[in-house]
Amino acid sequence: MSPRTLKSLVPRSIRLRSKMRWKNGRWRLATTDRVFLEDVIVPGFLAMDSIRRVLDIGVAWYTRTYPKLFRGVDYWTVDMDPDKQRIAGPQHHTVSATGLTDVFERESFDLVVCNGVIGWGLNRPADVEKGLDACADVLRSGGWLVVGWNDADGHRVVGLDALFDKRFRREVFPPVGADHYIPETPYGHRFDFFVKR
Ligand SMILES: C[S@@+](CC[C@H](N)C(=O)[O-])C[C@H]1O[C@@H](n2cnc3c(N)ncnc32)[C@H](O)[C@@H]1O
Repeated sequence: MSPRTLKSLVPRSIRLRSKMRWKNGRWRLATTDRVFLEDVIVPGFLAMDSIRRVLDIGVAWYTRTYPKLFRGVDYWTVDMDPDKQRIAGPQHHTVSATGLTDVFERESFDLVVCNGVIGWGLNRPADVEKGLDACADVLRSGGWLVVGWNDADGHRVVGLDALFDKRFRREVFPPVGADHYIPETPYGHRFDFFVKR
């Protein structure tokens, strides 16, 4: 049996747990995309005076420590899965990304982080459009959206660029010097940076 086949027999959650590392007083998942998110993207936004209130969509066991990572800003999370309430921080709502205005004031966030949600539950183009509309509704004018997604079969959403374009324009994220960043991963993960039109 090839090493690749053997690897595929180990559940993803266990494979990911083997990549946990202790750094700066908290456990972190040390995949290249996660390290880039935590070491470059989040600190880059937190260094901007304009970023005071942040919404992070989708919670996982490896994001448990994110209230600490986002220390200093008013950090909120949502997840449509009620089970995630248990591992979420103190400022959390169980709601779909498509229903953000049910629980948050319009134009009340400076940044929305949507990593690993499009193509991981928010899949149908019509739902993605609704979700992006909801992100735009809760963002202030000129607020930032960062989307992390897997440009890979099984996770790629058809027509995504046109869906972004409706309410957002691409923006250069200064720490990266570009409007997107593609870390080296076997699963095609990428980050795209936008501001609300
Ligand atoms: C792969 S995890 C991503 C977690 C985290 N955002 C990250 O940085 O990796 C996907 C999470 O998104 C949630 N999710 C999927 N579709 C969603 C939706 N429409 N609204 C809110 N959460 C959703 C799932 O329940 C799951 O907990």
